[in-house]
Amino acid sequence: MSLEERASPTNAADFHAEVDDVFERIASRYDLLCDLFSFGIHWSWKRRVATLIASEPWTDLHDAATGTGDVILRVARQGRLQAHQKIVASDMSSRMLALARKRATSIGAPVEFKMLDAHAMPSVPGESVDLYSMSLGLKICERQQVLREAERIYYDPAAIRAELARLEEQLEAGEITEEEFDRQEDELLDRLETAMRTSATGDGTAPR
Ligand SMILES: C[S@@+](CC[C@H](N)C(=O)[O-])C[C@H]1O[C@@H](n2cnc3c(N)ncnc32)[C@H](O)[C@@H]1O
Repeated sequence: MSLEERASPTNAADFHAEVDDVFERIASRYDLLCDLFSFGIHWSWKRRVATLIASEPWTDLHDAATGTGDVILRVARQGRLQAHQKIVASDMSSRMLALARKRATSIGAPVEFKMLDAHAMPSVPGESVDLYSMSLGLKICERQQVLREAERIYYDPAAIRAELARLEEQLEAGEITEEEFDRQEDELLDRLETAMRTSATGDGTAPR
C-alpha cells in the first residue's frame, strides 16, 4: 500500500506515523492534553479499566499502544500482582515509551517495555498472552489488522480446559472412541503446553 493510500483513513482518526508521528511530537505534553481534552474524566475510566484487568486471572498481559503507561502502571500499582504474572507494554513511539519506562522505574513497577507496531508484532510468539489490552489506541489503528494480530498472540487457557472437559463428556457418553479421545486430548494438551512455554520464556524457546 502506498503512503498516500495509508494516509487516507480507514480508521476513526486520521493518524499515520509514517506521515506525521503526532505522539513523538506531543509525548511530553500527552498527559496534560488528556486532562484538558477529557476534562480529567480519562482518569476515572482508566482506573476502572485497570481495576478490571487486575481482577482477571491472567498470567501474561500485553498492553499495546501503552503510551505513557497510564493504564498498565495503575494495574501494577494496585499491588495485587503475583510472582508468576508478567506484564509487557508496547508502543511504536520511542518518546512515549521512554516516559512510561521512567514512570515505571520511579514506582518500581515490574513492566517490560518494547517498541512495537500493534499491526504486526512478529517478535511476539503466537498464543503467548492470556490478556491483551489497548486503551485509546484502536481508533487510530487499522482495527481489523490490530485485532487479527491480537488474536494471533492470544490464548485462552479457560477455553482449552473447557474443550478438554467437553471431550471427557463425549468419551463418557460413548460419542467418541478411546483412540479419538487420546488423539484430541494430546492436541489440546500440546496447545496448552505451547502456550504456557512461550509465555514462560517470551520467545518460544523452552524454559531453562
Ligand atoms: C491516545 S494514546 C493512548 C495511550 C495510552 N494507552 C492511554 O490510554 O493513555 C495512543 C498511543 O498509541 C500509540 N500508537 C499509535 N499507533 C500505534 C501502533 N500502530 N502501534 C503501537 N502503538 C501505536 C501512540 O504512539 C500513542 O502512544
